This record gives sequence, structure tokens and C-alpha cells, in this order.
Amino acid sequence: MNKIILITGASSGFGKAAAERLAARGHIVYGTSRKPFLHETVRFLQMDVRDAESVKTGVETIIEREGRIDVAICNAGMGIGGSLEMATHEEIELQMQTNFMGCVNVCQQVLPYMRKQRSGRIINLSSIGGVMGLPYQGFYSASKFAIEGFSEALSAEVKGYGVTVSIVEPGDFKTGFTASRKNSDATMQSEAYGESFRRSLQIIEKEENGGLAPEVLAKTIERIVNARCPKLRYPVANLEQRLSILLHTILPGNMFVNVLRSYYKV
Ligand SMILES: NC(=O)c1ccc[n+]([C@@H]2O[C@H](COP(=O)([O-])OP(=O)(O)OC[C@H]3O[C@@H](n4cnc5c(N)ncnc54)[C@H](OP(=O)(O)O)[C@@H]3O)[C@@H](O)[C@H]2O)c1
Repeated sequence: MNKIILITGASSGFGKAAAERLAARGHIVYGTSRKPFLHETVRFLQMDVRDAESVKTGVETIIEREGRIDVAICNAGMGIGGSLEMATHEEIELQMQTNFMGCVNVCQQVLPYMRKQRSGRIINLSSIGGVMGLPYQGFYSASKFAIEGFSEALSAEVKGYGVTVSIVEPGDFKTGFTASRKNSDATMQSEAYGESFRRSLQIIEKEENGGLAPEVLAKTIERIVNARCPKLRYPVANLEQRLSILLHTILPGNMFVNVLRSYYKV
């Protein structure tokens, strides 16, 4: 059966690839962007996920037009690079408001309809950075750890209403994410962190630019949409990154921190 699907951040990267893939399969896909545009197969809505009113209006528009909402994919997000010590409150707020509160806003708006339907599927984009604390992407990691905890608890609360929650944990992918990362000026110019940050950033950007194509992740999203009984977590990463997730679970904490320090040349 064709589903009514909302996907935030559909103008680029994962969101674009997943929206186009799902629309090509016959689903009715509403994509969002802060600057919407006409698209052949995806219906675009204006939405800034940081603004709860803007999310409410977008969700109400879908309900008015379609009468229901089957799948919500909370994908919109961005990254801040820099030291934890030197991050400004504006940077931290931008990071948490976009990635974490953006996801919360969408979930809170779609849930009343999904509960009433007694069916629905929520798919939240975390990251490998939601599994381990990535140096110089610390607030990004914090926003994704928040999504992990929120989504796991939400899954427990809404399962009884026929709503499933899944978390997607991508490793490095080649998308618009790298170019739109906001790097901390204070860290760049810092005597304490500047050199180390620039070294790490080179590694981070090289991995992302050489990363998997977003279409790989779009396939996983389609699999979750179609699954009879979706899993809670879906890591999607290359072998090395999947191995790092395994190491994170088996190595003593301090030893894993040393692995991170050495890998990112901190
Ligand atoms: N690329 C990776 O390696 C990677 C790895 C792990 C996790 N992720 C996660 O995957 C998700 C998608 O990222 P991507 O890699 O596809 O990046 P991307 O190509 O930069 O796309 C980001 C999307 O988010 C939207 N967005 C950003 N801020 C927004 C806001 N305030 N309100 C509404 N939409 C907003 C953008 O839309 P507009 O600018 O048009 O509004 C854009 O469509 C993010 O949550 C990211 O953290 C990415």
C-alpha cells in the first residue's frame, strides 16, 4: 500500500536520496526544506525544524491534504566542528535545536495522529557519533546521543499504540553535510587546540568526502519503511566504522578514548 511519508531535510544528501527513492516506489512523499522548491516527484513544504510552529503547520498541511501520516523521517541536521571548551552558546544552541529539538518537534507533532490511527513509523537519524563521542564534534555527538536516548524511550512509550521507532546510525557519507559544517573560529585560532583541530578536521573531511553515497542509506530507509517489524537500530557504515562500533562496546572506556585520539590525531 502507498504510504504518506514526511521527511525533513529533503533538499540534499540522505533526505533527497530517500525522498526520491520512496516517491519512485509510488509513496506520497512530503519533503521539507527551509527554502522549498518545486520537485517532480516530492511535494516540498517550508519547514525550519527548530521552530515548533513551522513543524506544526507542515504536519497539519499533510493531514489536511491526505488525512493521515504513516511515516515520519527526522533527518534534517547539521554539524558544528570545534573544541567543547570553546564552543559558544549560540553554536551549542544551533546544534541542539537543529538536530535534537528538530527531531523532538517533528515526533511531538506527528504522534497524536499516529496514535489515533493506531499505526505509524518514526525513523530518526542518529550517527556513528551517537554511539561514541567524536573529538572536535562533541556537541554534534551530544545531539545524536540525545536522539538515541529519546528514541529508545519513545519506542517503549508508543509501541502499544502501533507506532514503531527506529534509529539510523550512518558512518561517513558524501553529502552536503561536510560543506555546511560550521567550524568554530575560536578553536581554529586557539593556541591550545588550533593545530590539533585542523589535523582532525582534515581526517574528518577526507573520510566524509570519500564516504558512501547517500543512495546506500536511502535503501536502508526504504527497508525500514517496508519492514513488518522494524528493528530499533540500523548502523549503516563501512567495515572499519562498523568495527569501531564493536570496539566501543568491548574495549575499556579509556582504551577506546586512546583509539579515538590516535585515529583523529588529537
Ligand atoms: N553525511 C554524513 O556523513 C552523516 C553521517 C551521520 C549522520 N548524518 C546525519 O544525516 C542527516 C542528514 O544529513 P546529510 O548528510 O544528508 O546532510 P546535508 O546534505 O547537508 O542535508 C541536510 C538537510 O537538512 C536540512 N536542514 C538543515 N538545517 C535545517 C533546519 N533548521 N530546518 C530544516 N531543515 C534543515 C537541509 O535543508 P535546507 O538547508 O534546505 O533547509 C538539508 O536538506 C543529518 O541529521 C546528519 O546529522 C550525516
